[in-house]
Amino acid sequence: MKLFLDTANLEEIQEGVRWGVLRGITTNPTLIGKESSDFLPLVKEICSIVDGEVSVETTGDDTDSLVSQGREITQIADNAIVKVALTPNGLAATRKLSDQGIKVNMTLCFSATQAILAAEAGAHIISPFLGRLDDVATDGLRLLSDICEIYAVQSYETQVLAASLRHPLHVVEAARLGADIATMPFKVFEMLVKHPLTDAGFKKFAQDWEEAKPHLGELLPSMQQEA
Ligand code: E4P
Repeated sequence: MKLFLDTANLEEIQEGVRWGVLRGITTNPTLIGKESSDFLPLVKEICSIVDGEVSVETTGDDTDSLVSQGREITQIADNAIVKVALTPNGLAATRKLSDQGIKVNMTLCFSATQAILAAEAGAHIISPFLGRLDDVATDGLRLLSDICEIYAVQSYETQVLAASLRHPLHVVEAARLGADIATMPFKVFEMLVKHPLTDAGFKKFAQDWEEAKPHLGELLPSMQQEA
């Protein structure tokens, strides 16, 4: 399962890239609006930092306008892909864009029927929003499970992107259910690596090493240099 960050924040993206595990970015108008940079330079910068797909969301709900925006988004960078909301006009735009070979991430998916429609429209990615369903006392993971099962049975090539993730268990379950991609806020991404036993064990090994070092004789050159 590929790990994406759901952010438009350059520092967060740079840190994710540094870890060597970041495979792409999802943005939306809310996330873009939180940053102080202008839209185009910001999106260009994100696309240049990340070696992977960057979803850039269209606005409005007029099919022709969505198609035009989609074409323009693909001009921003080779790895910019088009995010379109799962409305009837969004489906029509996705069909037109995918017929032109343009990759579309259909977003704001809250039902299996919408996911079937997105796949039939030729979407490259479907984004079910787990956390927002959980927020209204509906099982987001159940939806993800349904979509993964349906797509497998139907041999749809549309990739399943688990979106609106709120905590590490969402990520674990998305991987277990067979999602192709999980996108998450940076705070959830950071939580994936944290474990108190890792911290405690790391500290103890460091202390024991410092005590043992004086009587261990010759060490590797890089061990001698370490701070
Ligand atoms: C995905 O592409 C969306 O940007 C995102 O996951 C929405 O998540 P939220 O419910 O935390 O806003």
